[in-house]
Amino acid sequence: MTKRSVSGKRFIITGASSGIGKALALQLAERKCSLVINARRAERLTGLQAEIEQRGGKAIVVAGDVSDPATRQNLATTAQREWGGLDVLINNAGIGALGNFASASEDRLRKVMEVNFFAPAELTRICIPLLEKGTQPIIVNISSVLAHRAVPLKSEYCASKFAIHGLSDAIRAELDTLGIDVLLVSPSTTASEFFENVIDKTDGKYKKMSNAKTPEYVAKRTIRAIERGNHEILLSWSGWAFVWLDRLWPGFADQMVARFAK
Ligand SMILES: NC(=O)c1ccc[n+]([C@@H]2O[C@H](COP(=O)([O-])OP(=O)(O)OC[C@H]3O[C@@H](n4cnc5c(N)ncnc54)[C@H](OP(=O)(O)O)[C@@H]3O)[C@@H](O)[C@H]2O)c1
Repeated sequence: MTKRSVSGKRFIITGASSGIGKALALQLAERKCSLVINARRAERLTGLQAEIEQRGGKAIVVAGDVSDPATRQNLATTAQREWGGLDVLINNAGIGALGNFASASEDRLRKVMEVNFFAPAELTRICIPLLEKGTQPIIVNISSVLAHRAVPLKSEYCASKFAIHGLSDAIRAELDTLGIDVLLVSPSTTASEFFENVIDKTDGKYKKMSNAKTPEYVAKRTIRAIERGNHEILLSWSGWAFVWLDRLWPGFADQMVARFAK
């Protein structure tokens, strides 16, 4: 993995209209970066574009659903047209669903997988030729601690994050020969709009966690990891402990998480 500075680099960021994506965009603006920002809520992106420019960055808005191939193509075409290459792709857009797998629908599973797995996978594929033309290029996948240890009532979300974890590990090895790095970021609970935007919560509700990190903290750690050339980061001690408990003592971890299924 390559050490790099993010200053002045060219980024695509999905899911930039709120939470972690917005915090990343604003922190990168302070470092004079050029950003193509994406999400579905165009008016929010236009407001963000103005804030980015006030802070010294540059931004181009590409609004649209990242699970639509036309939006993904528009993101890649915009980077090609404006810059002729790309330094950093941040796959951040994500959604959740809550409730029992058995009583849920195929539609719920497909929606979560489309946004959290197929969209970043296919956006990555079409951006590889652009990244090859970039400077110290890197793909950043915003995953979750639930990509390392699954929990009940979030089956679709956990499956989608395990999938992006697997893809990240596989392509990190493949893209090494092209000089493209891959970073997997695994936040724990973060105080964003994520919980309001859960697509289905008929079967339960998210419990508020008092120790949630801020999106700004996640963004700061992500930028530091890009600069250090890390492969993977876990963003809380509790997340780290949970993952290692599962690796070292999986039966006990199963018993612990089973309590949340009731
Ligand atoms: N919050 C947490 O506790 C937590 C923990 C671990 C990992 N994460 C991960 O962190 C990432 C960012 O989440 P967040 O916490 O910042 O939540 P958030 O505030 O809800 O942000 C999600 C972003 O994704 C965008 N988005 C959702 N569906 C989209 C679609 N189909 N096409 C394009 N953009 C879409 C949303 O914008 P629009 O609605 O405008 O499209 C929004 O900008 C996600 O991948 C999430 O899984 C979050």
